[in-house]
Amino acid sequence: MTDKLRAILTLGGALMVGAAAMQAQGGESPTERAIEYRRGMMEVFSWNLSAMGDVVKGEAPYDKAAFARHARDLAHATELDLLKGFPEDSVNDESDAKDEIWLQWKEFAAKFRKLQEESAKLAKVSAAGNLEKIKPQFKETAETCKACHKDYRK
Ligand code: HEC
Repeated sequence: MTDKLRAILTLGGALMVGAAAMQAQGGESPTERAIEYRRGMMEVFSWNLSAMGDVVKGEAPYDKAAFARHARDLAHATELDLLKGFPEDSVNDESDAKDEIWLQWKEFAAKFRKLQEESAKLAKVSAAGNLEKIKPQFKETAETCKACHKDYRK
């Protein structure tokens, strides 16, 4: 191998490592990363909530253990710090977050607390395994998602 070729290969390798590092971070701005983070959390909420919703609506059979697991996972996911995913003014054309979030931060945080509380109750009642008692608490929990989306999501 000539020295020149070796130099070119080394440079190419360094560039690739640099590009991979950029990609690992998404090569994104802090706003873009925050949006991805909070949306990722929303997806986790949604996955678990909709699986339980199918059962509550009678579209899927009630499996006590599986249901309790979804309820527990939802409750655990709400213990992660969602608010960290909403740094000041982290909006772009892609985001559905409304400016009101930062103008009414306390109210926004309270809506998140409500979800935490209701999903913790849902996890508890789901562990007990009486579907008739689960249903109203499922509704309370789903309402907390809607309440926040109504005011703070485009
Ligand atoms: C404290 C307010 C709040 C609560 C509570 C909340 N959300 Fe959201 N949600 C938002 C906001 C704001 C967005 C828009 C985020 C963005 O696009 O930047 C959003 C977006 C979403 C999205 C779209 C994600 C995407 O990839 O674009 C889904 C799905 C979702 N929420 C599901 C849920 C579910 C299910 C619950 C309840 C278990 C819930 N959310 C509770 C505020 C909330």
